[in-house]
Amino acid sequence: MPTYSCRTKEELQQEQSKLLARYAALKQEDLKLDMSRGKPSKLQLDLVSDILTVLTDPADCIIDGVDSRNYGDLAGLPCAREYWADVLGCKPSQTFVGGNASLTLMYDLIARAYAYGLKDSPKPWCKEEKVKFLCPSPGYDRHFRITESFGFELIIIPMTPDGPDMDMVEDLVKDPAVKGIWCVPKYSNPQGYNYSEETIDRFANLKPAAPDFAIMWDNAYCVHEFDGEFQPFRDIISLCAEAGRPNMAYEFASTSKITLPGAGISVMASSEENIAYHLKHIGVQTISYDKLNQLRHVKYLKNRAHTLEVMKRHAVIMAPKFEMVLRMLRAELTNKGVAHWHHPQGGYFVCVAAMPGTAKRTLELCTQAGVTLTPAGATYPYGIDPNDSMIRVAPSLPPIEELEKAMQVFCVSLKLAALEKMLSEM
Ligand SMILES: Cc1ncc(COP(=O)(O)O)c(C=O)c1O
Repeated sequence: MPTYSCRTKEELQQEQSKLLARYAALKQEDLKLDMSRGKPSKLQLDLVSDILTVLTDPADCIIDGVDSRNYGDLAGLPCAREYWADVLGCKPSQTFVGGNASLTLMYDLIARAYAYGLKDSPKPWCKEEKVKFLCPSPGYDRHFRITESFGFELIIIPMTPDGPDMDMVEDLVKDPAVKGIWCVPKYSNPQGYNYSEETIDRFANLKPAAPDFAIMWDNAYCVHEFDGEFQPFRDIISLCAEAGRPNMAYEFASTSKITLPGAGISVMASSEENIAYHLKHIGVQTISYDKLNQLRHVKYLKNRAHTLEVMKRHAVIMAPKFEMVLRMLRAELTNKGVAHWHHPQGGYFVCVAAMPGTAKRTLELCTQAGVTLTPAGATYPYGIDPNDSMIRVAPSLPPIEELEKAMQVFCVSLKLAALEKMLSEM
């Protein structure tokens, strides 16, 4: 059948009747399915739960002369810093190892910039007349919320398959009020794009007017392939140093989707100078983080090579779920002209670009049929998608049988929303 836009009004009405019948039947099933957040499934948590028993003997808690049960080593256990340096390809001295959430490290960095200022400009951002922050969109809602909560002006940067629109970024950073940018360089949330070599080079070579411009390089999905081999990534810290702005980038990662999201470890990596500056402030906040958990992780994950083996086991669970989602999208939506999407090789999401003006209505229909997705607009600053188009699908949590049903509801709802719009405009 031709795309919807090539069909007559009568043909569209016929299609609508068929879909309404399918929708009514699905609604009858009283579904309660959740594809809203990128959480690992219970199977994945069980897969790594041996980590709970790697430390049983008090003698195991002493490593390289450090008793991980006690206060001390604010920057993290030396072996945990070595672990993250191995994963990220930077130096141990450029890492700070924190608690279970990298989001806390990101929030704290922005809060410190706001209250005290950053290394290269001691003027706190709260004393600036205006602070603007660049938000490649669609992006991660929680990033945007951090900078929104401090009252910054959020500026949408369109995403391309190569990463953020760098012409626009390079132009906007000429404004000294622009203080930073959110980035997810590998398997971006939600589109699953990898920044190209050129994009990364252009980031490292940015010459922002603000001396304390911060690249928030959230490498949350750095080892999270579910399809194919590990794709190496570049070290943004050394690239910025080579380009003459060593303090510009802050890289973040965590084991949230490697081990346990509620009980993992996180890292912030940056220049040694930046780490020293932030440690002074962190030392006011806490005497030290949970080093027992850091040790548990090092003993369990060992190094990058072994972490990649653990990720292969996650992939065995994740891959069929993504295949299911993508198969359903292909079967239901190809050649209709109502949506397009990217086929990611890793990360936690599939992002569907619905016909402009139909995302909210699609999700409304999904909700009424018992399927929860990330709210429309959530992937844009202030929760407003100017085109009302992007929908984030998170396949990881539901069992695969439920996923198939949820995707039927989703695809039928998306087509109904498109037909409603088209017919109303005829
Ligand atoms: C891009 C991105 N960054 C950070 C996080 C949260 O990480 P953490 O659990 O380490 O706070 C997520 C979770 O979905 C994410 O998608």
